[in-house]
Amino acid sequence: MILVTGGAGYIGSHTVVELLQSGHELLVIDNLCNGSAESLRRVAEITGKEVAFQEGDIRDADFLREIFRNNAIDTVLHFAGLRVIGESIRVPLRYYENNVVGTLTLCQVMAEFDVKKIVFSSSAAVYGDPASVPIREDAQVGGTTNPYGTSKYMVERMLEDICLSDPKWSAMVLRYFNPVGAHSSGKIGEDPNDIPNNLLPYIAQVAIGKLPKLSVFGSDYDTVDGTGVRDYIHVVDLARGHLAALDCLANTQGAGFEAINLGTGNGYSVLEMVRAFEAASGRDVPFQIVDRRPGDIAKCYADPRTAMERLSWRAEHNLEDMMRDTWKWQSQNPWGYR
Ligand code: NAD
Ligand code: WQD
Repeated sequence: MILVTGGAGYIGSHTVVELLQSGHELLVIDNLCNGSAESLRRVAEITGKEVAFQEGDIRDADFLREIFRNNAIDTVLHFAGLRVIGESIRVPLRYYENNVVGTLTLCQVMAEFDVKKIVFSSSAAVYGDPASVPIREDAQVGGTTNPYGTSKYMVERMLEDICLSDPKWSAMVLRYFNPVGAHSSGKIGEDPNDIPNNLLPYIAQVAIGKLPKLSVFGSDYDTVDGTGVRDYIHVVDLARGHLAALDCLANTQGAGFEAINLGTGNGYSVLEMVRAFEAASGRDVPFQIVDRRPGDIAKCYADPRTAMERLSWRAEHNLEDMMRDTWKWQSQNPWGYR
């Protein structure tokens, strides 16, 4: 059985759909600080299968012990974490506590129960401001530009050291680039609690009229049109990347530490994203150019070849698919899960 931490969140819920549809047995744990039980109810609607769920916190060792004692878990897909970069700059301790101490506690309890396979949600943020693009996994990590990215880097290092110390461990670290989009049913998607921080949810809320206009953070970067370039990846592709990672781990014992990029290899600018969303939605997305956002970088996109070589996985959805599915989710659920 697979334990899915943070499975009631955006990427976790999409992964649970793919897992259930391919016949995996799983249990979701989530403290619902940013996820919702409603997302899991909708996962059940999409898949026609019940989702086993226990509410609780990965920092709570006793809760985790109960989970491991009562379920035959062999692998952990570890999504649970906080992920708002601006907040991590304002309250770094909250990020180190939740993301680093939380993962540490999880690994301690896993070791107690001799469960030593973990797939971890890392981020392109570990590369900081990359020396060149596309970014390969052997590029320098750790020069992070915010505490969120640093928390991901610290967990990566911790997992690497655990694997070095004990040959029974396998830690597959998946470095996501910029996840966007939603399930093609329009039933589940990204549901920001507040004003969105990320580009595509912001654009979607402007298009539907919840926000007046997009602020484009800087137009003087060294990019195709001066706006920031990122590697946007459809969340369903990302979810399937986790199934590929599980397949890869299934036949091994003690594979050690490995980090793999999950991206498309394509970079799109902010203005290209605006135009593509307007085309997919038929709505206008008014915007204004404002100052750069502190900590932002010019360009970030993956070299995705390792994922192909190691996991036989590649992203299959294109930009149009990402925009169409984001708009379907946004227009069918203007208030998210509420
Ligand atoms: P999300 O907030 O939608 O999902 C995270 C889930 O974890 C939420 O449901 C939340 O309630 C839960 N959670 C948080 N802290 C917890 C704790 N201490 N105990 C139990 N549950 C807890 O975010 P997401 O976008 O689905 O991200 C999933 C993972 O992927 C995170 O680790 C995130 O850092 C990482 N990631 C996300 C992105 C992105 O842009 N969305 C990019 C790279 C990496
Ligand atoms: C994308 C582009 C902005 C909002 C971070 C993490 C990454 C992943 C996603 C978690 C940039 C521009 C944005 C807006 C804008 N998350 N923008 N106006 O910063 O690339 O990536 O979140 O792990 O790892 O590093 O994502 O969506 O915030 O920004 O112009 O209102 O859109 O400047 O060029 P980012 P983003």
